[in-house]
Amino acid sequence: MTDPGALLRIAMDAAGEAGRLLASWRGPERPEVIDTKSSPTDVVTEMDRRSEALITERIRAVRPGDTVLGEEGGQTLGGPGHPAGVRWVVDPLDGTVNYLYGLPDWAVSIAAEVNGTVLAGVVAVPRCGEMFTAVAGQGAWLRRDGDPANAIRLHCTTGVPLGRALVGTGFAYDPEVRRVQGEVVAALLPHVRDIRRGGAAAVDFCSVAAGRLDAYFERGLHYWDYAAGGLIAREAGAVVGGLSGRAETTSMAVAAGPDLYPQLDKFLARLDPERDERLALTEP
Ligand code: IPD
Ligand code: CA
Ligand code: CA
Repeated sequence: MTDPGALLRIAMDAAGEAGRLLASWRGPERPEVIDTKSSPTDVVTEMDRRSEALITERIRAVRPGDTVLGEEGGQTLGGPGHPAGVRWVVDPLDGTVNYLYGLPDWAVSIAAEVNGTVLAGVVAVPRCGEMFTAVAGQGAWLRRDGDPANAIRLHCTTGVPLGRALVGTGFAYDPEVRRVQGEVVAALLPHVRDIRRGGAAAVDFCSVAAGRLDAYFERGLHYWDYAAGGLIAREAGAVVGGLSGRAETTSMAVAAGPDLYPQLDKFLARLDPERDERLALTEP
C-alpha cells in the first residue's frame, strides 16, 4: 500500500526546493527565453528546465521506480526492477510569463497519482511564501513560510450567486483558441462581479480553494496545470469538472463552490466555449 501522506511529504520537499531555486534567480534582469513550445509566446526559460531536473532527481532519489510526467521532459519511466504504481505529474514552473516579467504569481505544481487517481498534490507559490497541499479525503491546507505548524484548513466560498462571483480564467497560447476565449469572457463579464486573469492555472485552483476566487475556468490546460490544483480545490469543498456533467479535461476545467458551479456551467455551456475545435476543422 502506498501511503499518500508519504507521497505528499516527498512532493512538498521537492516543490519547496524547486521554489527556492526559482526564487534565487540572480542572473540578468530577466531569465533568458531558451525555447518556445506551442506558439511564439509559449516560452521556456533555463529555470523551467532546471526546476524540473531538480524535482525529478529528488523524486528518483527516494522512489526510483515511479513514473514522472513533467511539462518539459515528458513522461519517463522508473528504473528497472522497480514496479511502477505511482506517477508524478509536474509543472516545474507554472506561470512562466509572470516569472519572466517579475510578477509574483508563479508556482511549482506536483501531484502524485496512484493507479490513475491523484491522491496528493502540492502547489508552492514562493513569492508569497505559501504552499497549498492536499491528500485525497484529508482536506486542503495552506502552509505559510515553510512552517508545518502554521497550517490553515481551506474552504471554498459557498452561497455566492453568479452575479456576485469573482471568476478567474486564463487564455491559451494559441491565437485561434484565444479569439473564442475573448468572446466568452466578453459575454460573461456583464453577468459576474468581475474577472481575474492571474497567469498561473495551478494558483487559480488554489485561489478557489482559499476563497480568493469564487470560481475559475479555463479551456486548453495541460494535465500538469490542474492535477495538483484540482485536488486542492476539491478537497476545499469545490466542485471540479468540465461542462455539462463531464470530468475536467485538457479541453475544459471548471472549479467553483457546489452552488455556484451549476450556474456557471449553464452559462458557459450556452456560450459553447470549446467551439474553436470545430471552427478549426471547418475553416478553409
Ligand atoms: C500556463 C499558465 C496560464 C494558463 C496557461 C498555462 P505555463 O502555464 O498556467 O495561467 O492560462 O493555459 O499554459 O505555460 O506558465 O506553465
Ligand atoms: Ca502550466
Ligand atoms: Ca510550466
